Amino acid sequence: MKEFNISKNIKAEEILKKVFENFSDEEIALSSSLSYEDQVLTDMLYKLRIHFRVFMIDTGRHFQETYDVMQKTIEKYNIQYETVFPNAEDVENLLKEKGPNSFYESVENRKHCCYIRKVKPAQRIFTTLDAMITGLRREQSNLRNNLEAIEYDENTKIYKINPLYNWTSQMVIDYIKTNKVPYNILHDKGYFSIGCMPCTTPVKEGEDIRAGRWRWENATHKECGLHIK
Ligand code: ADX
Ligand code: SF4
Repeated sequence: MKEFNISKNIKAEEILKKVFENFSDEEIALSSSLSYEDQVLTDMLYKLRIHFRVFMIDTGRHFQETYDVMQKTIEKYNIQYETVFPNAEDVENLLKEKGPNSFYESVENRKHCCYIRKVKPAQRIFTTLDAMITGLRREQSNLRNNLEAIEYDENTKIYKINPLYNWTSQMVIDYIKTNKVPYNILHDKGYFSIGCMPCTTPVKEGEDIRAGRWRWENATHKECGLHIK
């Protein structure tokens, strides 16, 4: 296990620099869903002049607006996404057995879809990595409030780097606006946390920022399995 010596008030950029000092840039990648947070990290890495890999798991059910911000980001930062798709046969079998909207029927079905479309493809890219950078934040949900800046995941055997772990939503929005970072225009229509189209809705004022994800489910289940089982 590596020692990183992360002090309490360390800035996100310093965490990123430390991590790239400890791993080869071919063995570390930003995991991006094109969310507000991932866009902040993309901008930071670009400004730090760090060569970085970035992957996006394309579940096949994303919003057009997500692809639009992806295109804008490619143009602005001149980066090349590694797009990771689910196994075609797995998706074919899922649709054959359960139909196109099975995720609305039960938590089990929803987690099965997330597994086929997101977790399993992610496992493929994890085998090429020693560390992945995520946009996870403590404030996002109760399930995430123990998050640390750097964690080692025993299951995947890779380090998870969470430079924004202690950022508030307002800090994220302020960074995006101040630095004119491209963002998903759905954020201007009431969406905060954005995942797949059929499973994401806008949030009303006063609601939890992840309330719009899998809205029909109880808050204790609201994870796709990529981060928390
Ligand atoms: S999720 O597990 O519920 O989908 P969330 O949308 O909050 O997670 O995103 C948290 C972090 O997980 C993102 O900042 C990003 O690092 C990673 N992530 C989520 N979805 C994807 C995706 N489709 N492709 C790559 N990384 C992703
Ligand atoms: Fe399937 Fe919804 Fe999970 Fe996307 S978020 S993988 S559509 S269940």
